Amino acid sequence: MSSFKVALNFEDGVTRFIDCKAGEKVLDAAFRARINLPVDCSDGVCGTCKCRAESGRYDLGDDYIEDALSEDEKAGGLVLTCQMVPQSDCVIAVPTSSTACKTEQSRFVATVAKVEPHNDAAVVLELDVDATAPVFLPGQYVNIDVPGSGQHRSYSFSSAPGETKISFLIKKIPGGVMSHWLEAARPGDKLDLHGPLGSFYLRDAQRPLLFLAGGTGLAPFLSMLKVLARTAPQQKVHLIYGVTRDLDLVQVEAIEAYTAKLPNFSFATVVAHEDSTHPRKGWVTQHIPADALNDGDVDVYLCGPPPMVDAVRKYFDDEGMQPNSFHYEKFTPNVVARAA
Ligand SMILES: Cc1cc2nc3c(=O)[nH]c(=O)nc-3n(C[C@H](O)[C@H](O)[C@H](O)COP(=O)(O)OP(=O)(O)OC[C@H]3O[C@@H](n4cnc5c(N)ncnc54)[C@H](O)[C@@H]3O)c2cc1C
Ligand code: FES
Repeated sequence: MSSFKVALNFEDGVTRFIDCKAGEKVLDAAFRARINLPVDCSDGVCGTCKCRAESGRYDLGDDYIEDALSEDEKAGGLVLTCQMVPQSDCVIAVPTSSTACKTEQSRFVATVAKVEPHNDAAVVLELDVDATAPVFLPGQYVNIDVPGSGQHRSYSFSSAPGETKISFLIKKIPGGVMSHWLEAARPGDKLDLHGPLGSFYLRDAQRPLLFLAGGTGLAPFLSMLKVLARTAPQQKVHLIYGVTRDLDLVQVEAIEAYTAKLPNFSFATVVAHEDSTHPRKGWVTQHIPADALNDGDVDVYLCGPPPMVDAVRKYFDDEGMQPNSFHYEKFTPNVVARAA
């Protein structure tokens, strides 16, 4: 049986070669070689395993959904390693460091410390973790088993690594499995978590940063801001936080506090609903100041529901704006995604 050599180029400059048997998926071949590439669903649904194929022929199959890999991304050479079957030797750029890929995904138990509702928009969930809590990168997420449901949901850490409590900002979805559980959750309740996961995380701040958050897509930015405040880099950091309704704006005071903690931090809130009296109406893309783009020498981070993420990416493409780097996370709903 023939096999193909696949070079995995990691962000930290490390290259590892793996042998991929004919018909074998890259993720499985990497796993045999004890390299834990980013992965969550293994099913072509979440997009967590997305990498860039820089050379070679391969088959991506039809077994993945558009939210995990769009036609444009496919045309641009992006691949899902959980689906990709090489048909020649290939080179793949992995958007994470080699050290992160050797880290096992861990499971751990946490205890509910606080459940704090914000209007009918969102809930802040705070958990106590023991010594086995995961080391994570600001921006990453974790899967939380919803007790008694046999299902899990993904949530981005809104707390920073190294804290004894971890926290999440969770949108209230009427009738949602996690949302329903949270209504009756009490301090002391136990939760099983597995992770950390994802290649959406804050890289070294070497140029201005533009953060674009949609709804509870604010969560990973809260984590990133906490980490940035520890080193207070001189780079400009501009956050645009867009929501649908006025009451969806949560944690604004926490964001405001960073204007004192981070030397070059600024932010703007934006509300889309036509009935809103907010001073800035519309979409986040209508409120990006030219200087926040720094003529393209900017690292853009984008997080929110899939339609918002797609709209913002399309906006950048349509405007011909090419930032130095562009990182995004889609809060794909599990239920819709798996039924698609
Ligand atoms: C990588 C990743 C990170 C995520 N991080 C966060 C986070 O930090 N905070 C957060 O709030 N969410 C986050 N999500 C989304 C989260 O995992 C759940 O999908 C969401 O909380 C709904 O869970 P639920 O159990 O309450 O509702 P479900 O039981 O999953 O859904 C109930 C019904 O509501 C629909 N639905 C689900 N979400 C929405 C929505 N946003 N708008 C309208 N209808 C919806 C479903 O399709 C379904 O029909 C993340 C998702 C991913 C993939
Ligand atoms: S791990 Fe490949 S799409 Fe989810």
